[in-house]
Amino acid sequence: MRGYTSSSYGDAFADVYDDWYRDVSNIDATVAAITRLAAGGAVLELGVGTGRLALPLAAAGMSVTGIDSSDEMLQRLASGDPNGTVTAVKGDMVDDLPDGKFDVVLVAYNTLFGLLTADRQEACFRSVAERLTPTGSFVVEAFVPVPHTGSQVAVRSMTADRVVLTASIHDANDQTAEGHYIELTDAGGVRLRPWAIRWSSPDELDAMAERSNLVVRDRWGDFDGRPFTADSERHVSAYVPGMTEQPGSRTATFATDSEKST
Ligand SMILES: C[S@@+](CC[C@H](N)C(=O)[O-])C[C@H]1O[C@@H](n2cnc3c(N)ncnc32)[C@H](O)[C@@H]1O
Repeated sequence: MRGYTSSSYGDAFADVYDDWYRDVSNIDATVAAITRLAAGGAVLELGVGTGRLALPLAAAGMSVTGIDSSDEMLQRLASGDPNGTVTAVKGDMVDDLPDGKFDVVLVAYNTLFGLLTADRQEACFRSVAERLTPTGSFVVEAFVPVPHTGSQVAVRSMTADRVVLTASIHDANDQTAEGHYIELTDAGGVRLRPWAIRWSSPDELDAMAERSNLVVRDRWGDFDGRPFTADSERHVSAYVPGMTEQPGSRTATFATDSEKST
């Protein structure tokens, strides 16, 4: 989308993000899983946004750093974190990752797909690999793509004086989708909120990871630890430095045994 930059999404959605997306995933389960993986160590969240996840992670006792390219998102994070429990970094999640070693690097809720080419996504894996402790994990939460081509317009929400429409274009060859949320109000206002993604399949992500000297250790259907299956609509994958084992061949770390059985 011409004119779209790495801060466009965050700047356009910061004011509604928590209202619209707070419940897109299970925050408690995410915190529990990352707590187990980090084992008291340091966590870096890529595309930290308003702190939907980072703030509860910090409240659970972890040392959390979050990077984001959007000033608007980082202002929301700061206003929800008066005591500065999350160390916020303004920058790009490929080029500007902070120095240091992290026990968990987390990129949640499809945020990796906000990098709009396969090369940029792979560069992200490389940057993360350089910052993981030898026992650290890069945790990626993303949807499993169902490629299609075409355009669509739909209604997201409607009241007597306000309607939010979505307009999007999907390209299965380029593995891209882009669109706008279009907010129309009775008072005469129109507000555009643009978004753009480049999706990758789990296999493609695994190949990017391998070329970055990371391998997938665990893959689940969600942070609750449900198994990843052929029907899973999303995945939570943990990549670790330079191992050759297959997924599931080590002790699972995302969920306790009791959680997995529920
Ligand atoms: C979908 S939101 C996710 C926010 C948060 N992680 C969550 O799960 O609620 C994506 C975030 O990534 C940020 N972002 C997008 N591209 C980025 C980039 N290249 N570098 C850093 N942050 C980026 C956006 O500004 C936005 O805050």
